[in-house]
Amino acid sequence: MTRANKTIVVVSGDGIGPEVIRAAISILEECATAFGHRFEFIELPFGGIAIDRCGEPLPIETLNACRKADAVLLGAVGGAKWDSQPLTRRPEAGLLGLRKELGLYINLRPVRLFESLRAISPIRLDEDETIDLEIVRELAGGIYFGPRQISGSETNESASDTEIYSVKEIERVALYAFQRAVARRKRLASIDKANVLASSGLWRRTVERLSENFSEVKLESLYVDNAAMQLVLRPAQFDVMLTSNMFGDILSDEAAGLVGSIGLIPSMSLGNGTALYEPIHGSAPQLAGKNSANPIGAILCAAMLLRESFGLHREAAAVEKAVDHALAAGFRTPDIAREGCKAISCSEMAAHICVALAESAMETEKYGWGV
Ligand code: IPM
Ligand code: MN
Repeated sequence: MTRANKTIVVVSGDGIGPEVIRAAISILEECATAFGHRFEFIELPFGGIAIDRCGEPLPIETLNACRKADAVLLGAVGGAKWDSQPLTRRPEAGLLGLRKELGLYINLRPVRLFESLRAISPIRLDEDETIDLEIVRELAGGIYFGPRQISGSETNESASDTEIYSVKEIERVALYAFQRAVARRKRLASIDKANVLASSGLWRRTVERLSENFSEVKLESLYVDNAAMQLVLRPAQFDVMLTSNMFGDILSDEAAGLVGSIGLIPSMSLGNGTALYEPIHGSAPQLAGKNSANPIGAILCAAMLLRESFGLHREAAAVEKAVDHALAAGFRTPDIAREGCKAISCSEMAAHICVALAESAMETEKYGWGV
């Protein structure tokens, strides 16, 4: 077995970003010790904090380091302090810029119900049913990046955003979604609003044409309003969901709510170069600095990073097992604690997961390997 020697650029950003990323780093460090790898972490300013320190949300040094890294780990951006800024000067513009500059056109958001959290799901599931789906969100195009305009003023002011998709942009992300479906339960739900939007009509035609190359995958095209309802009524029907940039943003928060907390969900963004990993929960300013955020989304990002960017499958599985273990043992941050239950802090949750990871690594007789 070879030792990995990798550089991870860390842009923890604003709000609860730094707290949950600290937790994820502690897990990666434990993983390096337990399995004999070397990970170097380079922390750089990004988002609102970079606006304050460097005058812009995505300093060129940060971008260049991300380009050269083996993987990028991102916390969250945004906060009330910068909300009055024009769109192009907000922390969010830094996030969109980073996605664009790194060519990250695929965003994968796995949403799974932990068995030990079944009781906190807001919906009723049959005993033999579960939620285990993946949202493949287009990330580099659509209304997030189309031309924007604000004109006129006061009561005559008007504003517009533009959704544009080309066949090529749809095909490259759809291809990835079909491949995920092939590796899973072979069902793909493509989400659009083809009864109203021209860009959605193109989306549907392109995905349906591509499906001819994937005869083993059962493709279903759904309107986004119906998909939002189906998610609440019968989430178990979904395997892989393919969405535009904005529909994926909306539906992934909804799906996260179904499994108990948005704090549990990781994501991976892929393109032509370095991959980026970020929990989907955002900066949650009301929780910032309280050490009470849920670090599991960020920790599961670390697991995805190990598997997808470094090819460390055993290590990734050990991290996921450690998360399962901590939850099964009853440890809960406030967002997933039932009323009357004692909740623990973000750093305590990370510490419990670390211990479970060390134990699980020892079980697989990897602890101390090569040290
Ligand atoms: C997300 C976030 C971002 C998005 C914001 C912060 C720009 O909501 O990653 O889901 O809309 O993509
Ligand atoms: Mn979002």
